[in-house]
Amino acid sequence: MGKLYESQKIALLYFSVAIVLFGAQLFFGLIAAYQYINPDFLYGILPFSVTRMLHINAMVVWLLMGFIGGIYWLLPSETGRDVVGAKLGKLAWFLLTAAVGIVVLVYLFKQIGKGDIFTLWFITEGREYIEAPRWADLGIVAVMLIIYFNVAATVLKAGKITGLLGVLLVDLLALAGLYVAGMFFTPNITHDQFWWWWVVHLWVEATWEVLVGVLMGYALMTVLGTPRRIVEGWLYLEVLLVFGTGILGLGHHYYWIGTPEYWLGIGGFFSSLEPLPLVAMIVHAVYDAGVHKLQTVNRPALFWIFLQAFGNFFGAGVWGFMHTLPQINLYSHGTQMSASHGHLAFFGAYVATNVALIYIALQHIRAPEGPILDSKTWKVAYIGMIVSMVGMVGALLVAGFAQTFFERAVGGATWQDFITAQMHPWVSVPYLWRFGFGVIFFLSYLVLLYDLATIGKKVTVAEVKPA
Ligand code: HEM
Ligand code: HEM
Ligand SMILES: [Fe+2]
Repeated sequence: MGKLYESQKIALLYFSVAIVLFGAQLFFGLIAAYQYINPDFLYGILPFSVTRMLHINAMVVWLLMGFIGGIYWLLPSETGRDVVGAKLGKLAWFLLTAAVGIVVLVYLFKQIGKGDIFTLWFITEGREYIEAPRWADLGIVAVMLIIYFNVAATVLKAGKITGLLGVLLVDLLALAGLYVAGMFFTPNITHDQFWWWWVVHLWVEATWEVLVGVLMGYALMTVLGTPRRIVEGWLYLEVLLVFGTGILGLGHHYYWIGTPEYWLGIGGFFSSLEPLPLVAMIVHAVYDAGVHKLQTVNRPALFWIFLQAFGNFFGAGVWGFMHTLPQINLYSHGTQMSASHGHLAFFGAYVATNVALIYIALQHIRAPEGPILDSKTWKVAYIGMIVSMVGMVGALLVAGFAQTFFERAVGGATWQDFITAQMHPWVSVPYLWRFGFGVIFFLSYLVLLYDLATIGKKVTVAEVKPA
């Protein structure tokens, strides 16, 4: 087993919780998908509103925990030293995990109630994706400060800073700062949504994109041996493009929430440019892989990196672009198109990043001096996840198109038109497909778990053959 820094041990703690929460996300997603088909299922025991909330909140938390794991993992190789304040870092992990556990239990047992200040502080804030109650919000901010201290103090102590670390330090500050925007309580729904989008959009289309740019840069250096000069050059370009387009791209959510009219033009223009950095990321990954003729010591990590580049481009770039222009969004807003895009984008850009990083860590632990980290099972999980995700996303896209057409364009977006569209087979049948493909996705997750537990543990026959 390779030697582990304290920082990397913290990374493994984060990765472990992340992967368990991934399972929880899928479990509740499956129940929610089944409730779409059979609305009576668990009615009064575990309603759709709760299964959906658990599905998407678990997603946000596990993805963040995976990123944090990645940060602790790369810290020693970037700074050449162990983390400063390891004990504090472990404490932060414990606090975050405990807070998540408590919040989930509260969600499960206290499903309905009054929307008052007590609820806001102790039950839920009720803002989609970031529903955690205020006490947990404050805890999360404290934990983020500790993590920030760990990274910044380590960089200071090391006395050197790399391009990756510089970008990371600035980006983390923005990421943590934005979270605070999700805590403003205002009774005016337009104001409330205005700030809420700051977190949701500016996270996934700005600060998270830059963060995975850093993490994928590190991954390319480790897995393909790409020179730092090239990785960092591309990273700066990507940061420029991501922030240049993504910040004002925020306008694509402001169209219909009651903000001034100028957002229509600003949002339409800037958000339509958002795919640009994603194209740059593909060019970067494909170019590096070509230069190194796909030679790698870590097959699964390399393939998940590819998936990240392409998944990010298609899920966020292409699927996002499809409905970002106001002329289209006027009709498609809030249909299954959003869910189709949301699934592909989160999977491609962020799930793939985390899985690649976990394989990088596993190689260091299980096969530090080679041979190649490889197995049959990672391929099964990889292909299973891609096929089932494409299936779910395709099904929702058909449903979204049909809704846009029958409910909005042909109908007049009335309540009756909504019902008519929901009954239409092009909308109702895809809900069955989503459930079916969801089951395959869940099974692929189980294969992934098995592979993560076993890959690299035993040397295969091919590898012990004399050369
Ligand atoms: C077993 C596989 C999965 C199933 C069955 C599933 C099912 C669902 C269902 C039923 C919803 C609620 C949709 C609605 O309110 O109309 C949902 C929402 C969502 N899911 Fe999944 N999901 C799965 C996997 C994933 C994965 C892997 C991700 C990304 C990492 C993801 C991300 C999301 C997001 C972002 C939303 C909110 C979408 C929106 O409101 O537009 N899901 N999912
Ligand atoms: C990895 C990056 C991205 C992720 C994870 C992501 C995820 C999502 C999710 C989950 C939603 C549904 C939000 C809700 O609950 O209402 C959404 C909405 C939207 N996204 Fe993205 N997105 C990404 C990038 C992009 C990009 C680059 C574009 C444009 C080119 C885009 C365009 C849109 C639009 C227009 C909506 C609003 C749909 C509507 O409400 O009508 N997204 N995104
Ligand atoms: Fe957005």
